[in-house]
Amino acid sequence: MKQTSDFIKMKKNGEKIAMITAYDYPSAKLSEEGGADILLVGDSLGMVVLGYESTVPVTLDDMIHHTKAVKRGAKETFIVTDLPFMSYHISREETMRAARALMQEAGAHAVKIEGGEEAEEAIRDLTRAGVPTVAHLGLTPQSVGVLGGYKVQGKTAEAARKLLEDAKKLEQAGAFMAVLECVPRQIAAEVAGALTIPVIGIGAGKETDGQVLVYHDLIQYGVSRTPKFVKSYSNVNDQIAPAISTYVTEVKSGAFPGQEHTFTMKEEELEALYG
Ligand code: KIV
Ligand code: NA
Repeated sequence: MKQTSDFIKMKKNGEKIAMITAYDYPSAKLSEEGGADILLVGDSLGMVVLGYESTVPVTLDDMIHHTKAVKRGAKETFIVTDLPFMSYHISREETMRAARALMQEAGAHAVKIEGGEEAEEAIRDLTRAGVPTVAHLGLTPQSVGVLGGYKVQGKTAEAARKLLEDAKKLEQAGAFMAVLECVPRQIAAEVAGALTIPVIGIGAGKETDGQVLVYHDLIQYGVSRTPKFVKSYSNVNDQIAPAISTYVTEVKSGAFPGQEHTFTMKEEELEALYG
């Protein structure tokens, strides 16, 4: 299994890091088999798995539950789990307890927290406590209410300068990796160039040290609308919906189950039973 030092090495060697989200046993298993370097148990599970409008309703218990399932599906892959909304803002103690549960109880190898310089203290505390921590800057979906929607971040010179400064502070605080979401490619390239830790982009162009996509977006599974930055490599929806409607039709017509799906008792046993 790759570990934090391997990701730094990959960046140094110019080898791109492929991260994908996973939320349960099958998504973890298939992602590991597909060769993903890192699995992210993202709080995006609130939207793509639990059907919420945003990531805000996701709880620490949700993250523990799903991380355990991912762990069972992918025993050989580095797992990062999101600390959910408000689980790292109330007190240092609550932050530590949340990270402890995700690592000790659920089996995550690292945690991820959202925010610019406001995340600096939590990253320092977590790292000091031995918790490998990923920073998440740019578009930070847990703050959608404050940001006023899911919009590209760091578009002005001032915002870009702030983003770069924040990223440097989070690296200084001890983050071993940063996710950069929804920023212009030039700024993402600038941030990746300025940091020694790997910068994983989503909607951040190709010049970051790696990419991350949401599992359900990547294979078009249960999602209908995807953002501009998503590339879908398959369309599972197009296979699932017709499969289910054919099943329903065959149950109603009696075409399913067929002989090949059916168990039959031997004649002599039947005779012994009924005479
Ligand atoms: O929750 C998530 O899926 C994420 C990625 C989009 C980076 O945080
Ligand atoms: Na997330």
